[in-house]
Amino acid sequence: MSIELFDHSRGYGRVSRLLHWGMALLLLWQFISALLHYFYDDTPITDFFFGWHFTNGVLILALALLRGLWGLINLSRRPPHDTPIHRLAALGQLAMYALMVAVPVIALIRAWGSTRPFSAFGIELFAGQPEKIEWMANLGGQWHGLLGWTLFVLIGGHIAMAFVHTYWWREPVLQRMTRGRETG
Ligand code: HEM
Ligand code: HEM
Repeated sequence: MSIELFDHSRGYGRVSRLLHWGMALLLLWQFISALLHYFYDDTPITDFFFGWHFTNGVLILALALLRGLWGLINLSRRPPHDTPIHRLAALGQLAMYALMVAVPVIALIRAWGSTRPFSAFGIELFAGQPEKIEWMANLGGQWHGLLGWTLFVLIGGHIAMAFVHTYWWREPVLQRMTRGRETG
């Protein structure tokens, strides 16, 4: 059997599946670290998980851009979303993309405007400002957490609907993303 790198009308190729499941793991880490930060701040377990929140978030941003590009290249080959319910699913996927970019970008803007240097992957990406830039700090303070939680709610709905489609409505959409091809 040939190795299918590109997507096709009955499923997703290897690159899309690797990005989808790899990023699902990174987002799971982000979810755990956010929950710990909210409920158990200042504990060793939170320090461990949240210690990677910045680097992991920057990685998610880079991969989301790459995945978006790959998605655009493959758009015309992907399984069609041509009924109202499938169009709604596609809209949800688009919203997840928008948030996977907006949530880390807003955090990076806040970090840029702060007086502390910012590092990811152990590398200093930018130095601190001599004085805090208020609007940048406020943008992050007001929107980063809120939009981050919104993304996790959308992901929860997305996962639930993938199972509803597959096991209730008997449309094998899960197989498109697991084995890469609908059966039947
Ligand atoms: C897709 C990537 C990201 C997601 C989904 C995400 C999600 C979240 C969520 C839901 C919270 C709220 C936790 C709470 O209420 O205690 C949070 C907090 C935080 N995040 Fe992120 N984050 C991401 C990327 C980043 C990046 C790249 C940075 C650094 C530049 C960052 C810095 C922070 C900081 C400093 C906090 C604590 C202050 C706050 O609640 O705004 N995050 N994150
Ligand atoms: C257990 C977790 C997950 C399951 C079971 C799941 C399932 C699926 C399935 C079956 C599809 C194909 C649907 C179709 O063709 O209409 C899909 C596509 C998609 N999923 Fe997930 N998913 C999960 C986690 C995630 C996460 C964490 C994200 C991140 C935001 C995500 C974002 C997307 C996007 C954007 C698509 C469209 C294809 C693409 O652009 O890669 N999924 N998912």
